[in-house]
Amino acid sequence: MATHNLLLLPGDGIGPEIMTEVKKVISWFNARGGDTFESDEGLVGGAAYDAHGQAISEEDMAKAMASDAVIFGAVGGPKWDDVAYEHRPEAGLLRLRKDMELFANLRPAICYPALADASSLKKDIIEGLDILIVRELTGGVYFGEPKEITDLGNGQKRGVDTQVYDTYEIERIAKVAFELARTRNNKVTSMEKRNVMKSGVLWNEVVTDTHNNGYEDVQLEHMLADAGGMQLVRWPKQFDVIVTDNLFGDMLSDVAAMLTGSLGMLPSASLGAPDAKTGRRKAMYEPVHGSAPDISGTGAANPIAMIASFGMALRYSFELVEAADMLDKAIANTLDKGLRTKDIAAAGEATISTAEMGDAIVAELDALSA
Ligand code: NAD
Ligand code: IPM
Ligand code: MN
Repeated sequence: MATHNLLLLPGDGIGPEIMTEVKKVISWFNARGGDTFESDEGLVGGAAYDAHGQAISEEDMAKAMASDAVIFGAVGGPKWDDVAYEHRPEAGLLRLRKDMELFANLRPAICYPALADASSLKKDIIEGLDILIVRELTGGVYFGEPKEITDLGNGQKRGVDTQVYDTYEIERIAKVAFELARTRNNKVTSMEKRNVMKSGVLWNEVVTDTHNNGYEDVQLEHMLADAGGMQLVRWPKQFDVIVTDNLFGDMLSDVAAMLTGSLGMLPSASLGAPDAKTGRRKAMYEPVHGSAPDISGTGAANPIAMIASFGMALRYSFELVEAADMLDKAIANTLDKGLRTKDIAAAGEATISTAEMGDAIVAELDALSA
């Protein structure tokens, strides 16, 4: 039986609120026996800036690097609007992704049967939906240089961001997508904008070459990313795995979140390459949503994206498939009972708080293991 070391980074806004709920789930698994989890806790985002003047301290960065998995809440908020760009809360998250080399971001969008009515789309469009967005996470316009605002001296300024992709970055994310497709419905849709972007031309070429070199058994299609966004809301069930760059993946996954009913439902796993010697992957698990300043402190946050992100840690970092399946089932059963936080409730339907949702999921774990 193994002990796994977690670094919990609650962050800002609803981050600490949803982290409190995932801690209940971690404690439940520790009490059950089997593999156990030791949790350390650190500061990230605005909370770290307030304490240390930077969005993550060197000490917490070192802890993240040494951990078996980082469990990340959310960062950001209006309190830090005027903080210098390099110290803004989001910089802590970007540094974790970059320094840990977490290039593969898995964002599954699954429609739980009980929530088939919660989406703004018609029930038959989303019922049974199970798609996976594989977002490249350490390259593209997020990190390309130059990235600056220059003064042109004529009363004008110029803002520059640079979209850069090298072959190896595209190849390794394409491989992740093909490998995952083989465990699902064996289809990958690659999205870029090769009609206007050179990086899109290269993306298309490299994904095609990778496919032709050992992944011919997987069905591959290419789609322009704008049309892909449209297809996601028109008929999302046509997709199995979508592979796309950092920025398109960010936007398309927020769109996909609404297919599932709420941004509060979408978990994610950010994974590095397996270590050549140990096979261990650096990893961080984070909900797709942000710090939700509009509802922070009201007890309205949905903790399911956070709890399901821990479920992804069980599956992808610790290979505890039975535990991961059990946690997914506990979430589904809780929803089947009609328990709803405000974001997934129909108009007029009774709602429960963040803490009550966490407690209900833990109670379902008890029921499932009885
Ligand atoms: P957001 O995801 O925080 O919120 C968007 C909307 O979704 C809000 O109405 C919010 O109330 C709702 N929402 C989000 N999560 C929810 C949950 N768990 N339960 C119920 N409702 C939920 O996005 P935003 O408002 O555009 O950004 C707020 C801040 O969060 C910004 O500073 C942004 O940079 C940051 N952000 C951080 C992350 C992250 O830490 N991973 C991700 C996205 C945005
Ligand atoms: C996400 C967020 C982040 C991103 C921000 C907060 C840096 O929107 O994880 O989806 O743009 O990647
Ligand atoms: Mn986003």
